[in-house]
Amino acid sequence: MQTIRDLAALRAACSAARADGGLALVPTMGALHDGHLALVREAKRHARHVAVSIFVNPTQFGPGEDLDAYPRREAEDLALIAAEGASIAWLPDAATMYPDGFATSIRVGGASEGLCGAARPGHFDGVATVVAKLFNQVGPGVAVFGEKDYQQLAVIRRLVADLDFAIDIIGLTTVREADGLARSSRNAYLSAQDRARAAALPATLHACAARIVAGDAVAEVLHDGIAALHEAGFASVDYLELRDAASLVPVTTLAAPARLLVAARIGTTRLIDNIAVA
Ligand code: PAJ
Repeated sequence: MQTIRDLAALRAACSAARADGGLALVPTMGALHDGHLALVREAKRHARHVAVSIFVNPTQFGPGEDLDAYPRREAEDLALIAAEGASIAWLPDAATMYPDGFATSIRVGGASEGLCGAARPGHFDGVATVVAKLFNQVGPGVAVFGEKDYQQLAVIRRLVADLDFAIDIIGLTTVREADGLARSSRNAYLSAQDRARAAALPATLHACAARIVAGDAVAEVLHDGIAALHEAGFASVDYLELRDAASLVPVTTLAAPARLLVAARIGTTRLIDNIAVA
């Protein structure tokens, strides 16, 4: 595996990989866990070479969010992705990604509105802009993202369609702990007590989805779900919403595949999750 921090060297390595059986990209912010590694394994199914980017992107963090505290574990991350057979680790610094004079921002309408877009203003502009840069830097034929960040995946699918990136976007099922909690770099922030309570997040999603499928009124189910999260020890719930699975438009009945999405705070940690409701 080549560890690359310079853009000219990246372009040379990526063009060699493209010519030698194809190149898939897995964008990450590091502190890698099994969820990220599942993306690398999926990427390997689509191309001989996999590039993994590790960049804690400052423009997708709001004021007062956890940019400075975000876990950074470069040596461990490199060992993990090398063991999965990645060919290229792309580790740009902030000056490489955002040189003096940088002035462009990509805003994806529709899918980026509401949910995390409402709770974290500007977040998806930062994500769309950095992902577009990574696509242009690496030039992959395929890029793999997790359904864990379902709204992000929808934003990226829209970005790729709207700006004509010739890249297949693969969405991978969320990797979970034994008690159902989605793997997340932010789980490391949880105290032992909050970690135990956090399993209420996926449990509540499943309970709500079952009631919606059974025909209970969506508004009542969501109201009860929010109450259940407070009861379980969540300090606040940013949202618990039912959306169309493809467009992310809010829905109140199950006419087409839907997705139940939640963001809630336990202690000072904000956790997100989502499941299919069909
Ligand atoms: P990060 O949070 O590091 O996540 C990188 C990728 O891993 C995303 O596609 C995310 O959905 C996926 N992922 C995280 N936890 C997962 C899990 N439990 N199961 C499956 N996939 C999981 O998402 C970002 O970084 C950034 O916004 C990024 C796209 C890199 C742009 O900066």
